[in-house]
Amino acid sequence: MLRTHTCGELRINNVSQTVTLSGWVQGVRDKGSLLWIDLRDRYGITQITIETENATKDIVDIARSLGREFVISVTGKVAERYSKSDKIETGDIEITPDKIVVLNTSITPPFTIEDETDGGDDIRMKYRYIDLRRNAVRKNLELRHRMAIETRLYLDKLNFLEVETPVLIKSTPEGARDFVVPSRMNQGEFYALPQSPQTFKQLLMVGGFDRYYQIVKCFRDEDLRADRQPEFTQIDCEMAFVEQEDILNTFEGLVRHLFKAVKGIDIPALTRMTYADAMKFYGNDKPDIRFEMKFVELNDIVRGKDFKVFDDAGLVVGICAKGAAEYSRKQLDELTEFVKRPQIGATGLVYARYNADGTIKSSVDKFYNEDELKKWATAFNAQPSDLILILAGETNKTRKALSELRLEMGNRLGLRDKNKFSAHWVIDFPLLEFNEESNRWHAMHHPFTSPKPEDIELIDSNPGTVRANAYDMVINGVEVGGGSIRIFNKQLQSRMFDLLGFTKEDALAQFGFLMNAFEFGAPPHGGIAFGFDRLCSLFGGSESIRDFIAFPKNNSGRDVMIDSPSTISNEQLKELGIDVKKI
Ligand code: AMO
Repeated sequence: MLRTHTCGELRINNVSQTVTLSGWVQGVRDKGSLLWIDLRDRYGITQITIETENATKDIVDIARSLGREFVISVTGKVAERYSKSDKIETGDIEITPDKIVVLNTSITPPFTIEDETDGGDDIRMKYRYIDLRRNAVRKNLELRHRMAIETRLYLDKLNFLEVETPVLIKSTPEGARDFVVPSRMNQGEFYALPQSPQTFKQLLMVGGFDRYYQIVKCFRDEDLRADRQPEFTQIDCEMAFVEQEDILNTFEGLVRHLFKAVKGIDIPALTRMTYADAMKFYGNDKPDIRFEMKFVELNDIVRGKDFKVFDDAGLVVGICAKGAAEYSRKQLDELTEFVKRPQIGATGLVYARYNADGTIKSSVDKFYNEDELKKWATAFNAQPSDLILILAGETNKTRKALSELRLEMGNRLGLRDKNKFSAHWVIDFPLLEFNEESNRWHAMHHPFTSPKPEDIELIDSNPGTVRANAYDMVINGVEVGGGSIRIFNKQLQSRMFDLLGFTKEDALAQFGFLMNAFEFGAPPHGGIAFGFDRLCSLFGGSESIRDFIAFPKNNSGRDVMIDSPSTISNEQLKELGIDVKKI
């Protein structure tokens, strides 16, 4: 080994030992008679101190030739520092070197390897291998490692087996867009990369494996956001002989274990909310319930006062922001601008200030007198000093817009502390949602999700009202996981494909393998998959999952370090049977 210790390891009780450290030069300070080298590795920084008058010429010359990020090996004695530092863990000691070997040189790095670096996003991504040397990035990947280990420990104890499933699979039309891979041996045909191992894990249940998990890469060709990457990782799980309750309990256990083991936090038992309530009270199927600010519907109390906006609206709904009555005109204008942005899509914002002196003033005083405004306040359970914010319009659009406003107010009022965690389940999702563009029903979760037995009879008459045995886990307003109890009967699965607009032939061609498997004694089963990157970023207190991926892609799906995707040669194309002229 080129070292006896790491750069984060030596303490006062190591004084007078002879040691060898290897690492990167963080910096050199030269005061003439004294020379200091800060030597850094994954574990910390150790100071090398050279008294130029007492050191050999060789050592002084080498030290003076070092640049940032040179890789060196230093052998010397551990000494107690004259002036100690409490900023680093090795701050009580320093090394007096007998030998310095330059293992490699470095050109000047394009940004500083500090917590607060001077490098922008793009340059850090291009030189990600240098960025990885920074504490912040390394800590995130250490957290990811710990999360993976603790996940495996928890699931292993419960008899789950980790089984790998194929990466070259078959393209199917459901879900997001597939990434595809041309086959050289079967020209004109393509593999698809899995969006998830969904059908394979179900087949493992048919195969008798009964408890499966896999920490697995998934691929989806969809538009990217802070919490989406084209390739991401799931903790994918499936269990046989279970009902929804068993899955919820088992995986609530996993998340509570992770909080305890990784963050030392005991989170309370997860509450459950139906999808219908989530939409009605938060306008969102993944509500952030770190704070209340529930929606209050006002249709009954605001109509019939000649205010056309409210009279004509499908839904009049609002929130009460505690203690915000003193918002200035400018702040209220900002909120109005916020809800009118095209991404939010509201036509305007009505507000009512419940002043500290007990008076109420609204932006629609022309239509509503103080008595009527008091009724609003009662509906919201508002107190003096509170601010009521109301939107009106088409029901779903208005709920969605108010959901954004609620989150914005949560941010403005400091109610979304990233160190506070609130985890809960959303259950009873609809089985299907109607897609106007394709003019057909789509599976809200995926086509293998089973309807609630009590709703099955509605499948023909009123498919939109059928609820599924499907659930999501939400932490701080982020969907960290989702799953369902599956269909395990060929007839019901086939009926489901009919509903989704598949012809019998298409259903058989694409999913015949699964339906056939159901004929050979498929056990009842269900499962869940967690977005592992999302879980890590939540635990790490960041909104961006990229910070928790060693080599992430940018928002255009590019890896700017290896410059991918890239073109391939005409020979490769020919070999794959892809028509060069058409590209
Ligand atoms: P679903 O599609 O809900 O379910 O995915 C499960 C979880 O994966 C995470 N996730 C993503 N994370 C990062 N980037 C993405 N592009 C991305 N897409 C999804 C989310 C999500 O909750 N096979 C089913 C699971 C099952 O039914 O068991 C599935 O994949 O956190």
